[in-house]
Amino acid sequence: MAGYDPLHATSMPNNLDAFFMPFTANRQFKKAPRMLVGAQDMHYVAADGRKVLDGTAGLWCVNAGHGREPIVKAVQDQVARLDYAPNFQMGHPLPFELAARLTTMMPGDIDHVFFSNSGSEAVDTALKMAIAYHRARGEGHRTRLIGRERGYHGVGFGGISVGGISGNRKQFGALLPGVDHLPHTYDRDRQAFTRGQPEWGAHLADELERLCALHDPSTIAAVIVEPVAGSTGVLVPPRGYLKRLREICTKHGILLIFDEVITGFGRLGKGFATEYFDVIPDMITCAKGITNGTIPMGATFLRKGIYDTFMNGPENMIELFHGYTYSGHPVACAAALATLDVYAEEDLFARSAALHGYWEDAAHSLKDHPHVIDVRNLGLIAAVELAPLAGKPTARAYDAFVKCFERGLLIRYTADIIALSPPLIAGKAHIDEIFGTLGDVLKEAA
Ligand SMILES: Cc1ncc(COP(=O)(O)O)c(C=O)c1O
Repeated sequence: MAGYDPLHATSMPNNLDAFFMPFTANRQFKKAPRMLVGAQDMHYVAADGRKVLDGTAGLWCVNAGHGREPIVKAVQDQVARLDYAPNFQMGHPLPFELAARLTTMMPGDIDHVFFSNSGSEAVDTALKMAIAYHRARGEGHRTRLIGRERGYHGVGFGGISVGGISGNRKQFGALLPGVDHLPHTYDRDRQAFTRGQPEWGAHLADELERLCALHDPSTIAAVIVEPVAGSTGVLVPPRGYLKRLREICTKHGILLIFDEVITGFGRLGKGFATEYFDVIPDMITCAKGITNGTIPMGATFLRKGIYDTFMNGPENMIELFHGYTYSGHPVACAAALATLDVYAEEDLFARSAALHGYWEDAAHSLKDHPHVIDVRNLGLIAAVELAPLAGKPTARAYDAFVKCFERGLLIRYTADIIALSPPLIAGKAHIDEIFGTLGDVLKEAA
């Protein structure tokens, strides 16, 4: 493994206490840490030198696999050439070049992009832009935001307000005012063990009409949904659901935002889910796969009409009072440009799409394993939902997660749902190993 020094890898830090770990049971982890110290292609290297198959593309972000030479090189070169340059009233070439490239991946008239550093920031940018856009066109009364139950839109106050995962909301007070939620689209009785998109549930989009009737559409700025809900445990949209949401938003002048932080950059075998589902929103947020996870970056795409609306005032005035010190950071842009090259040169989205059928069959082969109450999948994503252990929710999935790691496989879990989303360079043997290892662990734990 290039640059990997197993001796160095085994030297563990003396103090695990100071780092307040994100979304982690800190005390439990620090008693029995699971450390990763290297990575190449489909594998991590654990601190004890073991190879660990990456069944989750890191956190749904390393779509081209780890340690890819052209990306590593681009980052190294860029940090040496121009480490940082401001994009407030100054510029450097890379974000312009990147924006022009990225917008060619977008459908319809989505032809502008705003850069940030994470999915959470991309979401907050989209929500702020939606409200500011309506205000700029004289509809300042459109301030209400609609999210969806079980939605995950990051951890900013905007994102958790429109998000619908109660655990992510309850610690943080009243959140943003003027937010409402659509119902989530999952019903196990009607959808369990569906391959791909469920037939049942498109009508749930009509709940937006109910919210329009309740609040009056003239108060609603935007609706935000994940085309496939990821972090809550993989909820695949029912057939026709997204198209129906689009129709209702158009009818009432409400902006539709697709949060493609997970689905962007090939996860469904297309550049973005908008293409996969053939539904064009008004804004798209992304992050993660934009740089193959190497350097933090988020992006918010918007339609021409939204951008043009902001360009109406005096030319010497800032059009949008929003931005981050690192919006369009040179090193992130270099990483993103190199990542796009890798995706294109290896035709990675189409290549992974050729394995979707194999992936689906492998996932559903776990159907009759102990405690499995649902398997669902789309693109190179799958979830295996387990019946919770009585009185100990999440214990069963956590146990499977630890046992898989011990056997050299990284999986992810949310509640009692195991989520899988390997790098798009995965081959059939990797897929066999992922579901084979998980299957063995489930059988042995029973
Ligand atoms: C759909 C979606 N939106 C937003 C985010 C937040 O991204 P970040 O963790 O980069 O802030 C995530 C992260 O998983 C996500 O899945």
